[in-house]
Amino acid sequence: MTFDQQNLLNFLDIATESVLAAGAVLEDLYGKLKAIAEKGRPGDLVTEADKKAESIILDIIARHCPDHAILAEESGYLGDQTANPYLWAIDPLDGTTNYAHGYPVACVSVGLMIAGIPQVGAIYNPFRQELFRGAKGLGATLNRRPIRVSQTTSLEKSLLVSGFAYDRRETLDNNYAEFCHLTHLTQGVRRSGSAALDLADVACGRLEGYWERGIKAWDIVAGVVILEEAGGMVTSYDNHSLDIQSGRILATNGLIHQELSQSLLYSADWFTGFLDKKLN
Ligand code: IPD
Ligand code: CA
Ligand code: CA
Repeated sequence: MTFDQQNLLNFLDIATESVLAAGAVLEDLYGKLKAIAEKGRPGDLVTEADKKAESIILDIIARHCPDHAILAEESGYLGDQTANPYLWAIDPLDGTTNYAHGYPVACVSVGLMIAGIPQVGAIYNPFRQELFRGAKGLGATLNRRPIRVSQTTSLEKSLLVSGFAYDRRETLDNNYAEFCHLTHLTQGVRRSGSAALDLADVACGRLEGYWERGIKAWDIVAGVVILEEAGGMVTSYDNHSLDIQSGRILATNGLIHQELSQSLLYSADWFTGFLDKKLN
């Protein structure tokens, strides 16, 4: 093992320690929330579980890597991003709406970007005791067993997942046309409410693909590493290299990537035609 690989494994252990500790907080507070608030947009919730889980993760990372910068959902950017190439992307509770309603689909997601590239990721779902891990060049696992994407080669035979950002009422670019179009073309499109789990589920072959707009780096950094290491593919909607800050992601088993990319881009036209037919 090279020095760089050993370093990545050390960072992976820190990510793992973080998601397991925060996952215990989510378990403890589940069904016992006292404070549920809206952060800005209607429906964009924050609870004491988000805050407590984040603070535990920040403590762990500060203890192991005091000079690393952080982007955490509830705290924003912390530390000096110019001092070194390391940036941790933290979502202490991905699936807050589910969690606040007592719908047990949520996780903790902790990823590390090095020089802008996602290289380490851990995602823990405390409701299923599922721990997903990945590090660049070192593979991906679910509960320490190697995982692989599915072998499905067509959209027609695929089960997909997507999500809707909190600005969906304010823009016509809200993913409704894409969701309808892909529902029409596939065996189904799910909406789990946790982007990190969506990526993890594509990585372990439960789903063939995932796309979303309005997504943030903390939602996807860990999942991107895990999915790529499981043999999947992650790009922009139009199949160019992924810009983590762009807010758009297309993630698949690789085999349906081209077909899903083309269908996504054609969705607005399809939807307009569909409505015309319905209304006339
Ligand atoms: C949300 C979830 C959801 C996705 C939203 C995210 P949160 O994160 O990942 O699946 O559709 O775009 O904001 O608010 O539960 O951490
Ligand atoms: Ca999130
Ligand atoms: Ca969150």
